[in-house]
Amino acid sequence: MEAEGPVVAARVGGARKASVPVLLSNVKQDASPVRSTNVAEVDRVLGGGFLSGSVTLLGGEPGIGKSTLILQVCAAMAMAGARCLVVTGEESAQQVGRRAERLGANVDDVLLLAETEVESILASIDDVKPDVLIVDSVQTMSASSVGSAAGTVTQVRECSQAFVSLAKQRGIVVILIGHVTKEGTLAGPRVLEHMVDTVLEFEGDRHHGLRFLRASKHRFGATDEVGVLEMTEKGLRSVADASGLFLDDRRPGVAGSVVVPTLQGRRPMLVELQVLVCKTRLPQPRRVAQGLDGGRVAVVLAVLDRRAEIVVGDSDVFASIVGGVKVDDPGSDLPLALALVSSLNDTPVAVDLIAIGEIGLGGEVRNVPHMSKRLTEAARMGFRQAIVPQGTPDGPPELRLHRVASLVEAIRAMTRAAPKKHEHSDRQAVIQLVQANDE
Ligand code: TYD
Ligand code: MG
Repeated sequence: MEAEGPVVAARVGGARKASVPVLLSNVKQDASPVRSTNVAEVDRVLGGGFLSGSVTLLGGEPGIGKSTLILQVCAAMAMAGARCLVVTGEESAQQVGRRAERLGANVDDVLLLAETEVESILASIDDVKPDVLIVDSVQTMSASSVGSAAGTVTQVRECSQAFVSLAKQRGIVVILIGHVTKEGTLAGPRVLEHMVDTVLEFEGDRHHGLRFLRASKHRFGATDEVGVLEMTEKGLRSVADASGLFLDDRRPGVAGSVVVPTLQGRRPMLVELQVLVCKTRLPQPRRVAQGLDGGRVAVVLAVLDRRAEIVVGDSDVFASIVGGVKVDDPGSDLPLALALVSSLNDTPVAVDLIAIGEIGLGGEVRNVPHMSKRLTEAARMGFRQAIVPQGTPDGPPELRLHRVASLVEAIRAMTRAAPKKHEHSDRQAVIQLVQANDE
């Protein structure tokens, strides 16, 4: 600390040539070209594509599809004339080749380098002069100047710094792939996130095909767009109509199912919320939430109990969002409560009904943002009735709104809109089946 005074004083004394301040209004706009990835959902998240000279960190759990995504992006960018170099430290050249074959991607012009030592990678880059450099993954890279093993904090930081400098000096698009740990943080130092311009997170449920691409940091644009892709036999496919995909498997007339017009990023998306309430002899009934926040489920159960006298104390409650999507939207409170009541009464809700609204501890139904986008999407997908908070402005004319102030009013509206009890219910179908078999 004490040494700081004289050092600063020496600088103030003019020992070092100072940079000259300029007027902000005179700063030239960055003219770096944006390179489209030619993969619609990736471009959507990036706001058009990768900026030359920018560094992007792509994080995700092992096996989620990072290498697949990046290979497809490379193939598409190479087709558009960009010189792409993929440095692989995880897989052999043969393995990458086999993947490319499986994808049916045209990778004729993509250059591949199986190498983990930064010094020799930099030497290759001097020869190849790529426009786009992919490093898969940054945790496998090591600089020989650093004593420690690959994957350690010092190595990851040191290697990344080398690639960041390279991007800035030569205007190369650099994409670093990084694994995230089970806890969801990028393995290696968090400092990596500060070093790069963009942090993309690739996530999804490993058991489902759906994948979401989000930007958690983006120096050149918004971070609220979400890319939706589907992992298929032939790699990742951009999903333009996510609502359609989610509702494809929906079986109408099942008790405990309510459709929610939620938002993923800026995009409205209809998802199906299912609840199963089931009597149990366990002293502590289970509360299982999948794709929903367990805390919100507990709150909704408590409010149902205290404000609507609907008690599920001696039953297990399973709540889930279909399709492996995570919904972090307070607007899913009301559909959750309604699905619970529907399951408890074994009465399906009307097939053409959606619901949206936040529930307060007093049992009141509150407004949520972007109502008009949500309602428009619901109408587009063929829904004709919506239970919404009071004060919701009119949506599309074909969508009839049931405006409610409280949870109790919402339950009444749902009951009025419901088909006749057991008209299509599963229980009825099973009873009929059993009777038919008995005869
Ligand atoms: P991968 O890109 O290797 O994941 P990461 O680099 O994030 O570790 O993807 C691995 C998974 O993706 C693997 O379990 C197989 C699956 N997959 C497909 O389903 N279809 C495909 O066409 C490809 C290439 C992979
Ligand atoms: Mg990989």
